Amino acid sequence: MGFYLNVKEMNGGKMNVLITGGAGFIGSFIVEEVIKQGWNPIIVDNLSTGNHMYVPQNVPFYNVDICSNSLEQVFREYNPTIVIHQAAQTSVEYSKMNPILNNEINVAGTLNILNNCVKYKVTKIIFASSAAVYGETSCLPIEEDSSLCPKSFYGLSKLNAEQYIRLYHDNFGLSFTILRYGNVYGMRQNPLGEAGVVSIFFDRILRDSPVTIYGEGCQTRDFIFVKDVAKANIQAISFGHNEIFNISTDTQVSILHLLNQIQTVLGKEAVVNFKPNRIGDIDKSSLSNKKAKELLKWIPESDFMDGITETMQYYRSLYCKV
Ligand SMILES: NC(=O)c1ccc[n+]([C@@H]2O[C@H](COP(=O)([O-])OP(=O)(O)OC[C@H]3O[C@@H](n4cnc5c(N)ncnc54)[C@H](O)[C@@H]3O)[C@@H](O)[C@H]2O)c1
Repeated sequence: MGFYLNVKEMNGGKMNVLITGGAGFIGSFIVEEVIKQGWNPIIVDNLSTGNHMYVPQNVPFYNVDICSNSLEQVFREYNPTIVIHQAAQTSVEYSKMNPILNNEINVAGTLNILNNCVKYKVTKIIFASSAAVYGETSCLPIEEDSSLCPKSFYGLSKLNAEQYIRLYHDNFGLSFTILRYGNVYGMRQNPLGEAGVVSIFFDRILRDSPVTIYGEGCQTRDFIFVKDVAKANIQAISFGHNEIFNISTDTQVSILHLLNQIQTVLGKEAVVNFKPNRIGDIDKSSLSNKKAKELLKWIPESDFMDGITETMQYYRSLYCKV
């Protein structure tokens, strides 16, 4: 209760919110939401996949690795009340080729942040986790208390980070909210990454390149719009203390349906290469968002077609400039 009042009292505009990965796809939208709330965002990002272009003017930006000792200087200088931790190695394929480095960034890097949170008396950490912590499950939609059996080193590193966060709460009283995102899509997603099928489809079709579909395209994902994810992070500042939430739409969208919607909004046909299913790919996925609706007071506001249309306008404007 004390903490809740504390955050409310800070609504006047003085609260410092440190956002790691704030120059990235999701982090940059969180920064915008933090500004809208009248709080002061501070960004730590080593620009490994992020882009300085996404950092708003006058927002303090530190090109610092979350694994490095220099991270502490940012905590010392700004004494953040809230830390929103988005920075991560996000590629499943990279985690397979470089499990040690993946662990260093996603687990040891998170530990470095947690140590600073305790040392500088941060009130709460909000952590970007992933549906990848669940692995394959036959029971859909996936609830937060479903079994946890990641199929990738990336998913395992997110689960390990979650467990450290829980134990930092138990041992040091650091408050947390863990958000397990579904497949996030929207503006600023890097089409060169492996995860963002929406941005990859836009990129390929706008460049007149063929798109690849593995299997028959009937595999499903739970696509959540980036602006809704940013808002969930803001809700987590005031609600859902020491809880874990899926951030999702609770809806399955097949890859073929996604492709059809993208073709419709672009008014353009794609050339499609069908390839055999990839080993290890999850077939069907959707995440329950019931708990987030109840305790986080959050609902996904964007209808799928609206989100896809806004995303299309962004990519179209980018490609028209080329
Ligand atoms: N995009 C999705 O669909 C999705 C789904 C589930 C979870 N997530 C999680 O959401 C978070 C944000 O992902 P995103 O999609 O915006 O990816 P992104 O690559 O755009 O953002 C990650 C940001 O972290 C920065 N970063 C990486 N390593 C760093 C380091 N060692 N030190 C400092 N900064 C570092 C990058 O430069 C980048 O700006 C990640 O934690 C990711 O695992 C994303």
